Amino acid sequence: MKFKTIIEPFRIKTVEPIRRTTRKERELALREAGYNLFLLKAEDVLIDLLTDSGTGAMSSAQWAGMMQGDESYAGAKSFYRFETAVREITHLKHIIPTHQGRAAERILFGSLLKPGDIVPNNTHFDTTRANVEYRGATALDIPIPEARQPQLRHPFKGNMDLNALEHVLKENPGRVPIVMLTVTNNSGGGQPVSMANIRAVSEICHKYGVLFFLDACRFAENAWFIKTREEGYADKSPREIAQEMFSYVDGCTMSAKKDGMANIGGFLALNDDELAQKCKNMLILTEGFPTYGGLAGYDLEAIAVGLHEVLDEDYLRYRVRSVEYLGEKLVAAGVPIVEPVGGHAVYIDALTMLPHIPQNEYPAWALSCVLYLEGGVRSVEIGSVMFGRQPDGSEKPAPMELVRLAFPRRVYTQSHVDYLCEVITYVHGLRERVRGVRMVESPPVLRHFTARFEPAHGSLIVA
Ligand code: F0G
Repeated sequence: MKFKTIIEPFRIKTVEPIRRTTRKERELALREAGYNLFLLKAEDVLIDLLTDSGTGAMSSAQWAGMMQGDESYAGAKSFYRFETAVREITHLKHIIPTHQGRAAERILFGSLLKPGDIVPNNTHFDTTRANVEYRGATALDIPIPEARQPQLRHPFKGNMDLNALEHVLKENPGRVPIVMLTVTNNSGGGQPVSMANIRAVSEICHKYGVLFFLDACRFAENAWFIKTREEGYADKSPREIAQEMFSYVDGCTMSAKKDGMANIGGFLALNDDELAQKCKNMLILTEGFPTYGGLAGYDLEAIAVGLHEVLDEDYLRYRVRSVEYLGEKLVAAGVPIVEPVGGHAVYIDALTMLPHIPQNEYPAWALSCVLYLEGGVRSVEIGSVMFGRQPDGSEKPAPMELVRLAFPRRVYTQSHVDYLCEVITYVHGLRERVRGVRMVESPPVLRHFTARFEPAHGSLIVA
């Protein structure tokens, strides 16, 4: 290409105002929210990077598709369009819509797991872990060792440790009904998994007669990384790469709120007839009839179009580059982040940035509060608040203390990113004065969503 600037491959037809607040207003909002960014009112946030889940902008083609939603209870046209779109990518036999990813997880694990089972994954995301543990099973994270060293660069840091997998399967016959691989590895920095690793995990699972599923939330971003980083894939289209990824699996769970480009939705897809029947029965119990699974016909339409758009090369190039752009600027400013930059988010390494805050005072949580206080930016902690509590109720520090800045799809422009960079660099300059937090209220599971905190030393930033 003659020109090197990668542009947003769209123009903007509808806009939504965002509102500036004063530091004083944010101080008050933070106190009222118990220093938990999940409990803020969204209108008090200037740039919202809490999640890339369901927060994207839909295209005119998606909105047009929604007008054609068929709201029939059973056998709607919209279901068949959705099913075709999913099948063209995954080639899986049974495609079961759900209202979002965690519903697919609950139904799958509810149909498959019993107490004492073990589910290996490169790294479970919070809801996946919680759904495994809710069944009395153990959620085992076995990423490659490089995954836990934030500044160590590796092209496929989302890979699973194959020796560890083989070891678990050999040592626990009959106790591992399923192995999952999360693409990209969200809790581990949005890092991709290579095709070679997917293939190898598949071979090992099938050698031991164990099901192999993808947690496919960000499959298109993963396909882009394979295209640009793995030998032999440069000339393949993202769609062909995605098809190959799915060709190695027995099924997948999917949140269409990510690479489905929709505001709501998900699915479970699998080949096994008997397991699919069990899952459909569970689905009817809480989600709905198998041709809508808790979604409106128009949601199924939005996903069908979204799954097409997400595999567009211009979109993926822009998507991955815009996240990388923030990462590069932060590295240049000396801010420690997980490297290389992942697909949907930049992850600040709070343990390196704030070595004076002990893990029991939640450095990444404190940092996310300070980013909001100073710049109105909302991020999310992926550290010891999210993952520190063990199933037996004890506490164990998380392997990393990360602040994730997740980019909604097609929402923010380069000047938003430049602003972000200024805020983060400013906070980095204050880092020695930042102090930790103390948890004062917490629910028994998934505590990060509703726990309340206080500054552990009187204030988040000391003089
Ligand atoms: N798996 C992964 C890897 C995820 O990132 C998520 C959601 C889920 C499963 C569950 O999907 O939200 O549709 O029920 N992650 C969001 C996030 C919430 O912020 O990363 P869901």
